[in-house]
Amino acid sequence: MYSIFDDAVRRARAYLDNLGQKPRARPAAAARDLRDLDDGVPAEASDPAVTLELLARLGTPGVSHIGVVALRWLVDLLELPTGTGAVFVHGATAANFTALAAARNSVLARVGWNVEENGVSGAPAITIITGHEAHPSLTTSLRMLGLGSARIVKVSSDDQGRMRPSGLPLISGPTILCVQAGNLNSGSFDDFGAIIPRTRALGAWIHVEGTFGLWAKASPLLRPLARGLEQADSWATDAREWLDVPYDSGLTFVRDPNTLQAATAVTGSESPVRGVELWAALRSLGRSGLAELFERNCRQARRFARDLRSAGHEILNEVVLNRVVVAVGDAARTRRLAAALQKEGIDWCEYTEWRGRIALKITVRSWALSDDDVERSVQAILRAAAAT
Ligand SMILES: Cc1ncc(COP(=O)(O)O)c(C=O)c1O
Repeated sequence: MYSIFDDAVRRARAYLDNLGQKPRARPAAAARDLRDLDDGVPAEASDPAVTLELLARLGTPGVSHIGVVALRWLVDLLELPTGTGAVFVHGATAANFTALAAARNSVLARVGWNVEENGVSGAPAITIITGHEAHPSLTTSLRMLGLGSARIVKVSSDDQGRMRPSGLPLISGPTILCVQAGNLNSGSFDDFGAIIPRTRALGAWIHVEGTFGLWAKASPLLRPLARGLEQADSWATDAREWLDVPYDSGLTFVRDPNTLQAATAVTGSESPVRGVELWAALRSLGRSGLAELFERNCRQARRFARDLRSAGHEILNEVVLNRVVVAVGDAARTRRLAAALQKEGIDWCEYTEWRGRIALKITVRSWALSDDDVERSVQAILRAAAAT
């Protein structure tokens, strides 16, 4: 398995050894070669060595093409509307920020206010609607966009942190509604079918915060959770949150590519070197490998929940995705337990406060995680819980 790393090192050394002899200008890749980089999202997983060979052969001439291909594949994999615009950004907060910049400019343009020319001071007020448990990065983004946290109308949420459709306010004037694919704690999804069509028909811009939950779209088993989110106007996610790719794999998608480009002055082809690792992961995993990864991690999350529950611990959430919230006692004990686990090094669990309870939050997220690892992790938690 590790021979691929040796292969990568050998190729990198050969590249550096030949550096002085290379022409300074990058050779343009032939159109035929670029087709090798973009033969559609592969259906099946394939040997990563083949992807490495392609990158070594075409990576230099095709560098400005690879990121664009990855973005196109993602629109397809995540079942977003054909023609959706996409860009790479630093991370999840930046992805929400970028989408909300496009949203702000678009809802103000509809009432005759041009943000690019006039800025935001003096602009008509925008109503922002989020769920009560929206991720804090949304508030951060809205503040940076000059929209201010006091403008946010928070809709009450149910016992899993989902926005209650019946709690939505009347919509009039420029409005941005943020829904959630993957609650930070429970992993739950808002009821997009009940929320998006009717609010969008009233003129609201709908943004989906999907940092980790948007990936459900890439699995036939998990897809029903995300049904209807493709009807929104913008989506934010971060491939780093599940695919073990580096920073700079945050992704903003906007239904109208012109709105995205006008808001950011960036196009897919201008974020060229970003996306090489993500392209390589998508190409070697293929549709079936991606689905297997997401489904395996979710099955493993259910196993954590089952085993911890049968050992007498209370599971606070419905485990629909890859998150498990487990109550192990009061705040002091939970903190001690999280610290003991982090020290032992088998698990990295956070503690969280959710719906008035202090709990451990388990996020199951790794291509490398085997069922044996889950068993070892469960035993580590039970051992630490018995000792604290
Ligand atoms: C649901 C969700 N949204 C947004 C973020 C913010 O991500 P970042 O700090 O990488 O910008 C996170 C981080 O974990 C997250 O879980």
